[in-house]
Amino acid sequence: MIKNQQFSLLAVILLTVFFAPLTDIFAGEKILSNIEDPLALKIGERLYHSQKQGCATCHQANGAGGAKAGAANLQKSSEWKSTLIAHKVRELGIDKESTRNIVIGLILNGAEKWNSEFYSRPKYSEIKDKIFFDKRMIGVHSTALKFNQKMAKRILRKKKKKVAANDLLRLMAESVYHYVETKIILDSEN
Ligand code: HEC
Repeated sequence: MIKNQQFSLLAVILLTVFFAPLTDIFAGEKILSNIEDPLALKIGERLYHSQKQGCATCHQANGAGGAKAGAANLQKSSEWKSTLIAHKVRELGIDKESTRNIVIGLILNGAEKWNSEFYSRPKYSEIKDKIFFDKRMIGVHSTALKFNQKMAKRILRKKKKKVAANDLLRLMAESVYHYVETKIILDSEN
């Protein structure tokens, strides 16, 4: 009996040690707490293809880009500046910064704000040959922002999901990134 108990205790300890880091990793991949994948995908799709001014207005429906998107091709995440920036940050020994984090920050804030804030954190300022984004990249801050916020709220309300006003923009950025990673990206460098 005692042996059995000791064995269970050992099993629990081993399981915790092995799986805790995994749950930590996956926690970072979740779209804001209580939003499921299909819902995020739906909001993301609507934002991406928003009629007035969505991501597709500059990046095209398939993400291949064009004059308005500069050199950005959303299908090739391996060529994104964010991927390069994530490498640079990791070289400094900061391991929590992923391409995903950086892109979501860019989509959420737009290039102008991202450029002025990203490297202002203590360690980040040490990064050499800093890469900045073209100011035309505005992310969710399009001329249709108000309209898109209402649309996202409407979809959430239908599913009886409540999201604090402060979290709505981040949810929109995460959702549209989820759409991009699911439907647009063709390589899998992330
Ligand atoms: C008004 C035009 C415009 C709109 C609207 C726009 N973008 Fe961009 N986007 C750009 C430009 C220009 C770049 C190139 C930035 C650079 O390379 O510095 C870019 C770059 C990007 C990149 C590549 C970042 C990298 O690391 O190289 C991603 C991803 C992206 N946009 C996603 C989006 C998403 C998602 C939306 C919609 C929420 C969006 N963009 C809306 C113009 C736009």
